[in-house]
Amino acid sequence: MLQTGSQLPCVVQKILVVDGWCTGVLFLLVRATDVDSAKHRIWTEVAGRQIFQVLKDKHGEGFEDFIEAKLCPLAGDVMYENFGLDKTKLEELYKNIDIIVNTAATTNFYERYDVAFDTNVLGAKHIAEFANKCTGLKMLLHVSTAFLAGEQEGLILEKAFLKGETLREGTHLYIESELNIIKDTRTELRANYSSEKAERKTMKELGLERARQFGWPNTYTFTKAMGEMMLGHLRGDLPVVIIRPSIITSLLKEPLPGWIEGIKTIDSVILGYAKQALKFFLVDPDTIMDVIPGDMVVNTMMVAMVAHSGEQAQTIYHVTSSLRNPASYALLQESAHRYFIDNPPRAGNNSEPIRLNKMRLFSTILHMVNIALCGAFSPYYNELNGKYRLAMSLIELYAPYTLFKGRFDNMNLERLRMAMEQTNNTEYYFDFDPMTIDWDDYFYRVHIPGVLKYLA
Ligand SMILES: NC(=O)c1ccc[n+]([C@@H]2O[C@H](COP(=O)([O-])OP(=O)(O)OC[C@H]3O[C@@H](n4cnc5c(N)ncnc54)[C@H](OP(=O)(O)O)[C@@H]3O)[C@@H](O)[C@H]2O)c1
Ligand SMILES: *[C@@H]1O[C@H](CO)[C@@H](O)[C@H](O)[C@H]1NC(C)=O
Ligand SMILES: *[C@@H]1O[C@H](CO)[C@@H](O)[C@H](O)[C@H]1NC(C)=O
Ligand SMILES: *[C@@H]1O[C@H](CO)[C@@H](O)[C@H](O)[C@H]1NC(C)=O
Repeated sequence: MLQTGSQLPCVVQKILVVDGWCTGVLFLLVRATDVDSAKHRIWTEVAGRQIFQVLKDKHGEGFEDFIEAKLCPLAGDVMYENFGLDKTKLEELYKNIDIIVNTAATTNFYERYDVAFDTNVLGAKHIAEFANKCTGLKMLLHVSTAFLAGEQEGLILEKAFLKGETLREGTHLYIESELNIIKDTRTELRANYSSEKAERKTMKELGLERARQFGWPNTYTFTKAMGEMMLGHLRGDLPVVIIRPSIITSLLKEPLPGWIEGIKTIDSVILGYAKQALKFFLVDPDTIMDVIPGDMVVNTMMVAMVAHSGEQAQTIYHVTSSLRNPASYALLQESAHRYFIDNPPRAGNNSEPIRLNKMRLFSTILHMVNIALCGAFSPYYNELNGKYRLAMSLIELYAPYTLFKGRFDNMNLERLRMAMEQTNNTEYYFDFDPMTIDWDDYFYRVHIPGVLKYLA
């Protein structure tokens, strides 16, 4: 387990040099045709983003040099063995890498099965194989998701999935057979001269069908679960940490409060509400939405990778809030209402501020359909109908979250926090304790303005 006491501070200090960052070089694997285009992507899609303003301010004219010195771009793709890198590059990497962090994934819930399998399952396999060839590897850190748990209720433990394990009793999963099913379907599609559109549809349906067969609600969580199984199976005695966050929301504190990228889950509901396109949502207001600010996820990753460096074991962390500091949908509804009363949105530059009614949350479909049907007979039928369709598509998409009845245990995370606190590291505090979050204040002051600023 976790090494506590005197050993931790010296390792923590190792990554806390000078300005709070590691001194080494970060190789960043980017999907691109060559190193130049990988570099271009890093400058525009990573270092060019607002979140880097903090470092820009700090380094001034030296910013470019700083980034160039730290980030070493690699053009590659985890779906290929060795990520498609050439031999010379690989030899260099095998010798020099201490820590591997894998966050690559296709995160679309209903992705094509072949695409999701390539990245989320084979990607994890290729990472594990690569890791085994790195001679001085101290840590392989993999980012997974807490919702691997599917529709389980009650307390969900920070426990590994064994290879072949499923969520549906009486079934066993053969990952290799899944790959064959994909290959066979591909062959059949080709033999049928299927159109690209038909192929996409077939592959999407196949993913969902296979996921449901084994008890997962969607292709994303199913393939992410298989990815964890692959890692666990192939890791040998490599030190592995698996981080399972729940729904990641904007940064709470660092380095830029409210910052967020990519519209996901609850944020599309907030945006729909702000734009008056979404007036109701199907979720029991008392349901706990397990959310966690992005900086807490990153802080956990940094501390866990230090704490478990060189340890020949696999440790799993739920980076979640539902057990220690639960936030309900009703709470978000209240905070959002209060936010938009105090900061009313405007439809155009010169138009009057709009007073939004509180979003209606329905706990049963019957209740909601009644309201929607009333809408159908109103003179605004078309408008309401469009809004109804938006609401229904979001409701369907997020059902695995909004109907979720489990709570994620995070005993390991607690232990990590206690060990860190014992190290007396006063230089920098890596906060990942969900207890410290005042949810109403966070939604009102940080997250909702962040979503409107960075995602709208
Ligand atoms: N966001 C959440 O709420 C949440 C919650 C729990 C867990 N997670 C996990 O956190 C990780 C990051 O999620 P995110 O929300 O940042 O997702 P995201 O915005 O979809 O980013 C995924 C990243 O993976 C890269 N990628 C995809 N396929 C790849 C491949 N074959 N080879 C190399 N890179 C590839 C993408 O690169 P391109 O730019 O080239 O597309 C993209 O940069 C994922 O593992 C996800 O499962 C996220
Ligand atoms: C290929 O065509 C056959 C015959 O029409 C059909 O039964 C089968 O489902 C098709 N396969 C795919 C993958 O679309
Ligand atoms: C609002 O003003 C901005 C800048 O003056 C302009 O670019 C934009 O088109 C205007 N939007 C509307 C809806 O009038
Ligand atoms: C941390 O500081 C406290 C109080 O100053 C001290 O009692 C304790 O031994 C220190 N712990 C470590 C691991 O240095």
